[in-house]
Amino acid sequence: MGRVEGKVVFITGAARGQGRAHALRLAEEGADIIGIDICEDISTNAYPMGSREELDETVRMVEKLDRRMIVSTADVRDRAAVKAALDAGVAELGRLDAVVANAGICPLGTTGGEAFVDALQVDYAGVMNAVEAALPHLEDGASIVATGSLAALLPGTVDAPGSGSGGLGYSLAKRFIASFVNDLAYVLAPQKIRVNAVHPTNVNTMLLNNDQMYGIFRPDIESPSRDDALVAFPAMQAMPIPFVEPEDIAAMVLFLVSDESRYVTGMQMRVDAGGYVKSRPQQPTF
Ligand SMILES: NC(=O)c1ccc[n+]([C@@H]2O[C@H](COP(=O)([O-])OP(=O)(O)OC[C@H]3O[C@@H](n4cnc5c(N)ncnc54)[C@H](O)[C@@H]3O)[C@@H](O)[C@H]2O)c1
Repeated sequence: MGRVEGKVVFITGAARGQGRAHALRLAEEGADIIGIDICEDISTNAYPMGSREELDETVRMVEKLDRRMIVSTADVRDRAAVKAALDAGVAELGRLDAVVANAGICPLGTTGGEAFVDALQVDYAGVMNAVEAALPHLEDGASIVATGSLAALLPGTVDAPGSGSGGLGYSLAKRFIASFVNDLAYVLAPQKIRVNAVHPTNVNTMLLNNDQMYGIFRPDIESPSRDDALVAFPAMQAMPIPFVEPEDIAAMVLFLVSDESRYVTGMQMRVDAGGYVKSRPQQPTF
């Protein structure tokens, strides 16, 4: 028996990166997957989004694990499209046990309101839309997981002036997620539905590996390369590593989706190689 045998999990942003890693890890442990991805670029976000080919490749990889995956192209900002995609997946797979609201953008180096609003719409409203679409299908024992960021917990990461308006929108969206899971966990506890956030540090995906992010980590260099940024990436963590891998986040997501965490709710689960404690935020004195 796998750790999530027979469960059906809805994952947003499933074409690549962490979303794909979640789909594969959960499938390895016996889950079937419903996945969506935008599969087109967002103009304020400088690096490309996942493609339909990548989404289809995720399906092939899940099917190789002998599990089923139903996918649609849908933008998490589009409430009706998210609901239609999820309802179609549930009609096909028969049930829904968990939501992993993972899709996100990080439009850095921008000015003006559009990037700020886009970040909030995708990174926060998109989470709300996924949860709203899922709620009618969820029953006793279900699990909701939202992907936050260390940026939710530490001031001065992507809400610093150099990150621009999109960085501030990203930070605000992730802070909202932290509050949202806290309060929704309380609201849904009587139904035994759990709600938790996963807060990653740097993860080795496109969101980290792009020119805008290199510029944030190496403001001292004009047009820094990945090699230039690699020297600076470890500054985020207490452990001497540049980033964690998507599979490290998937391990936490698997735990939160599984019944092993049946009484874990309202938690801010950091997978950050000590990034939070390194910043010495205010702690109880012990
Ligand atoms: N990579 C990091 O360093 C890092 C750190 C902290 C938090 N996060 C968070 O992790 C999550 C996953 O990001 P990732 O690292 O896998 O990056 P990624 O860019 O590789 O993957 C994000 C996926 O989400 C999809 N997506 C984006 N906007 C969408 C929309 N409007 N509708 C549907 N799909 C959409 C993209 O097409 C892409 O496939 C995000 O919420 C991100 O904010 C990432």
